[in-house]
Amino acid sequence: MVKAIPDHPLKILHLEDSLADHGLAKAALRRSGMAFTLQHVDTLEAFQTLTANEPFDIILADYRLAGFTALDAWRHVAQLPQHPPFVLLSGAIGETAAVDAMRLGIADYLSKDDMVRLPHVMARAIEVHEARKMREHAMAELAASQRRLADLTEHLQTSIEQERAAIAREIHDDIGGALTAVRFDIAWIGRHTHDPAMQEHASAAADMLQHAIGASQRIMMNLRPPILDQGLVAAVQWLASSFERRTGVPTVLRASSAVVNIPAEVQLVAYRTAQEALTNVAKYAAPQRVRIDLADSEGVLTLEVADDGCGIEPTMRDKPKAFGLKGLLERARTVNGWLDISSQPGKGTSVILSVPIASRDNASAEGEPQ
Ligand SMILES: Nc1ncnc2c1ncn2[C@@H]1O[C@H](COP(=O)(O)OP(=O)(O)O)[C@@H](O)[C@H]1O
Ligand SMILES: [Mg+2]
Repeated sequence: MVKAIPDHPLKILHLEDSLADHGLAKAALRRSGMAFTLQHVDTLEAFQTLTANEPFDIILADYRLAGFTALDAWRHVAQLPQHPPFVLLSGAIGETAAVDAMRLGIADYLSKDDMVRLPHVMARAIEVHEARKMREHAMAELAASQRRLADLTEHLQTSIEQERAAIAREIHDDIGGALTAVRFDIAWIGRHTHDPAMQEHASAAADMLQHAIGASQRIMMNLRPPILDQGLVAAVQWLASSFERRTGVPTVLRASSAVVNIPAEVQLVAYRTAQEALTNVAKYAAPQRVRIDLADSEGVLTLEVADDGCGIEPTMRDKPKAFGLKGLLERARTVNGWLDISSQPGKGTSVILSVPIASRDNASAEGEPQ
């Protein structure tokens, strides 16, 4: 809630070189019944000292003073960190001067001939000033909270990737190793028996093991992106091929040969973006074909996943419990990139990730471990 007038008597500073006019202003304020203290100055030096050392609720200033103008006074006030509203209370100064003054940030202009309106003009100036302060405060809070959210997202993403990598390692070392060893033993048993039933069981077990080994490799691939070993282009190609195999939708990857030496964290963001975009295509789009473009030109890596499916329904974009696209937007930010999602009902969807790659010299080589 904006409170126009503070609880304490209003602390007013009046910059005015005519004592008579100062008296008139004081009388107008008294008549209004408001509680106030009024300090009077008529030199720029005294004004500067006072405003630098004392907090005022509002400043009233005549326009033309001895050797300076209200604009000189305002310039000094405007650079104070917490300055009060500043109202011109002056003889006629002309519309242009009044407009210019407002443009510089002066709160309002009131002619001395209109002195009865002074309390009202002051109350409005304070109200607008308070509202602006509250808005600035809210904006600062919002920016801080967005920063916190971005930090948290980055932290969560990093933890998730680390955990995925650890699980993939365990599957590889423990489960994968054991399955392979058992497969050799089963094959040995199959070779060393002449009992047809035993051979049949050994062969069925070997098939089952092959299936389990394939499944654990697939799980590992999903958990730990193969970009770590083979580079971004190969990794996205692998995503595209498995998508095509799984869905039967023709999928083309066009990658410019320049996509090399992308920093590891950017590769991971690009990989996860392609993965989520393709998952969405498979789940929702029902397309005829899918196109993926991967390019690095003028220091910006771009990845586009485009389908010609049904398009995103406008209401679905902000679906409360859907975090796929929202997560991608946040992830892009963690590497100073951005995500554009364009979609037309019936015409398909395109998800574009762009990430500036600052300096090739600083970029870590593709496939470098996390
Ligand atoms: N390629 C696409 N084609 C059609 N609709 C899509 C596509 N991608 C996303 N959508 C729509 O946008 C919604 C939000 O997607 P997303 O944020 O990934 O969340 P989720 O996949 O968990 O629903 C989806 O529920 C779907 O309705
Ligand atoms: Mg999704």
